[in-house]
Amino acid sequence: MLRPPLTRRQFTSTLGSGLGAALVDGPFLPSRAEAARPAFAAGDGVRLNSNENPYGPSPAALQAMNRAESTAARYPDQDEERLTEAIARLHGVEPDRVVLGCGSGEVLQMADMAFLGPGRKVVVAEPTFEAVLGYAGVTKAEPVKVPLTAEFRHDLPRMAAACDAGAGLVYVCNPNNPTGTIVSRDELGAFLERVPPSVAVLVDEAYHHFVDDPRYASAFEWMGKAPNLIVVRTFSKVYGMAGMRLGYAVASKENAAALRAHAAWSNANAAVLAAALASLAEPEHVTRQRALNRDMREWLGRALEHDGRRYIPSHTNFLMLDVGGDVQPAIDAFRDRKILVGRKFPSLPNWLRVSMGTRPEMEAFVDALRVVVPARAARAS
Ligand SMILES: Cc1ncc(COP(=O)(O)O)c(C=O)c1O
Repeated sequence: MLRPPLTRRQFTSTLGSGLGAALVDGPFLPSRAEAARPAFAAGDGVRLNSNENPYGPSPAALQAMNRAESTAARYPDQDEERLTEAIARLHGVEPDRVVLGCGSGEVLQMADMAFLGPGRKVVVAEPTFEAVLGYAGVTKAEPVKVPLTAEFRHDLPRMAAACDAGAGLVYVCNPNNPTGTIVSRDELGAFLERVPPSVAVLVDEAYHHFVDDPRYASAFEWMGKAPNLIVVRTFSKVYGMAGMRLGYAVASKENAAALRAHAAWSNANAAVLAAALASLAEPEHVTRQRALNRDMREWLGRALEHDGRRYIPSHTNFLMLDVGGDVQPAIDAFRDRKILVGRKFPSLPNWLRVSMGTRPEMEAFVDALRVVVPARAARAS
């Protein structure tokens, strides 16, 4: 259970305690406007548990949401059409290959419903984002969990080998949540060639925009070549609209229709459709959010290295660090300090996942970490 929310004053003093960290800044400090947006950063305390974007939507997206007031009485069919066309243009496909969802979470659910059933196998990495396995349980599918490699990356050759005739769906989270690791272009290409066409391959690119590594490639590169490929994206992460709920899939015409059959009718609201359209027209916002995130990730990396801690280098807006023992007491101790960090992932029981927040939030996190898990305790394991 979460404790009662902080007052604004308590929240400010929590942050103030962390302002002493003497580490070098990156070049992309948040602008005054970004820093002065407490509504996205504050809420119930320091929220570093759900890999959100603490700076929120772009100004144009916010304006679009406000304008949606005037259309609130009407069903948003035209907005849905306009956004679907914009997404199709972005990815160079026909609009009938785009499927919208109430968050990408709904698209993952549609995929399970469309491609799984009693006894059909769903192949996933362990650990990875759990939603696909969660919904698969409802279909009575059989989970096949393939452990990550020693570098905490998807073991794609083993996952491909698990895709036999009984498999309905294989899920590749690239970059992976919770480890923040990627598979390379070469690995993904070889994997897509190897998986039988009868198995739907879902590549979840929720964190695509945060990757800088030149070895990485979006699965959209194979969209024309692999008919069983489904790529999923979201407006919850770099676009800063987790609370608004919108995601989408791009697939072959047939697979898009199969997914759509399991979608709720009119599953996206007028405000988020308008905001998403405005976001796609403002690529500079993405560039800036990427830079802010990269700065924060590098700053945190330096802080952890300064303390001699072990962490998994991340390509996302979150990172995992080794706490040297069961992570649950640390999660609880952070919560007592009004700092929410990621949940425990049972196959990585000693690792804590923390999302990137604003600089004051991350300073508060590092200060608390030094108390909750002193660096020597983390190193002793
Ligand atoms: C890898 C991954 N996929 C999908 C989602 C679901 O996001 P949403 O439903 O907000 O689009 C998340 C949420 O954290 C995620 O980490």
